[in-house]
Amino acid sequence: MHWEEMMVQLSRRTVLLAGAAWAVTGLGPSNVLAQDSARPSLPIPAELRADAGGTIRLDARPGSMRFVGDRATATYGINGPYLGPAVRVRRGEKVVAQVSNNVPETITMHWHGLIIPGAADGGPHQVIPPGKQWQTELAVDQPAATLWFHPHSYPATAQEVIRGLAGLLIIDDEESGRLPLPSRWGVDDIPLIIQDRRFTPDGQFFDRMNYIAVVNGYVGDTALVNGARYPQARTARGWIRLRILNGSNARSYTLAASDGRSLYVIGSDGGLLASPVELKQLLIHVGERFEVLVDGRDGRAFDVVTLPVAQDIMRLPPFDGPLPLVTIRPEGADGTGQLPSSLAVLPALPQQLPPMSQELVMNMFRDQQGMMPLKTAGLMAMVKSGKTDPAVVARVVNLIVNDPVLSQTEQLSASGVNGKPFSIERMDFAAARSQDLRWRISEGTDLMLHPVHIHGCQFRIISRDGKPPEAERAGWKDVAPISAGGVTEILVRFPHPANRDTPYMAHCHILEHEDSGMMAQFTV
Ligand code: C2O
Ligand code: CU
Ligand code: CU
Repeated sequence: MHWEEMMVQLSRRTVLLAGAAWAVTGLGPSNVLAQDSARPSLPIPAELRADAGGTIRLDARPGSMRFVGDRATATYGINGPYLGPAVRVRRGEKVVAQVSNNVPETITMHWHGLIIPGAADGGPHQVIPPGKQWQTELAVDQPAATLWFHPHSYPATAQEVIRGLAGLLIIDDEESGRLPLPSRWGVDDIPLIIQDRRFTPDGQFFDRMNYIAVVNGYVGDTALVNGARYPQARTARGWIRLRILNGSNARSYTLAASDGRSLYVIGSDGGLLASPVELKQLLIHVGERFEVLVDGRDGRAFDVVTLPVAQDIMRLPPFDGPLPLVTIRPEGADGTGQLPSSLAVLPALPQQLPPMSQELVMNMFRDQQGMMPLKTAGLMAMVKSGKTDPAVVARVVNLIVNDPVLSQTEQLSASGVNGKPFSIERMDFAAARSQDLRWRISEGTDLMLHPVHIHGCQFRIISRDGKPPEAERAGWKDVAPISAGGVTEILVRFPHPANRDTPYMAHCHILEHEDSGMMAQFTV
């Protein structure tokens, strides 16, 4: 279906689901409020700054949430039942992060996107057993950005994130503070953590590691935003800043506004762009963040929707058409934020690039085991036909849910980097410190999507498949997507050391790929 047609269909749906109950029913405001109260409000994670002693306390603990009907889902959260607070630090600040593990399994806590030494990074070597604490200093010295934190337990990151362990880590700095950007938390500065989940019949998180999951990644059938299903956010009337984190295990989203209004991308993973990038659709892969401004000066409600993406299995219902994720109602007091025409100074890429110093090839050794059954079930033919067929959907869902769980050995050898599955004992390579390095990221014969993430740095994408990156990926990044046999070149620098005890990781951020061996570790 063509984009405009989708929009027409969608705006009808939006009117019914989200929008103008006033106009439709002709009833008064009290009725509207009653109707709205049937839908959850967007939960806004509490901001958490270092206390007077400079400490940030994070407590991973079990919880319970009602995502589906009135069934209780057992969860994990950080300082709460699901997800975590929005930790806020300033450039130049030194804080102590104190992580208590009160969940009944070993975790770690990794600061995704933070440029810190390996010893503070919270990777798979820095385990926190149940009942124990881990404390580390975080010396923040990088531009304002929306980062995040999550466990990095090998090989159980996928399960722990599914349960709810993840939170935002926001860096502020003077340069961004001088810009007139919307910055009132929860008023015109709105965090959106997008995740997909699937539930078992008794309401628990589905998290089976079979070949379907290990190859295709986690396939949810429910979209959550900040842990709520299709919530609504009442915001200031004016420019709204959305800090979007794709915190899903595997799913990419093509985000758009239901009424076709523009998305002005102002920031990527590691900070502000040079100037805003106006888009109608924004593709965001797992681990990526984008900060987006939308013009809500008209005070009219709209949905942030996701449109179907390229991966066949990710087009199962309800992701087979435009799916509304969250309603934004810019109905409050007038906002004061603005869309600046220029944002940050980004250093130009050097004319003379350094020689290639590292290759990272993402490998799938079992892609046939994960793809063939889908083909046999008719998934590829169905997607090609453009029509959702309930019989095919049922067969594919049956594979997702019932394909047998892998033994640990099968799981850990299903994927790799540079021909080898991850081994926590083996150092894969060493990178030079404080030097511009050129790395090449590619994939084996599987042609699948791999959003590749590297610790200890923010890098720049030099090229993807021989072309310059899209404007919204031309700034600071810590995730570089590759797909369809493509190649991405990056320019990267590691200012801090990482030794053999606490090396940095380079891995695919599809957590099922990471947990099945698509990860390498390196020293600096
Ligand atoms: Cu967000 Cu190595 O991870
Ligand atoms: Cu990371
Ligand atoms: Cu991957």
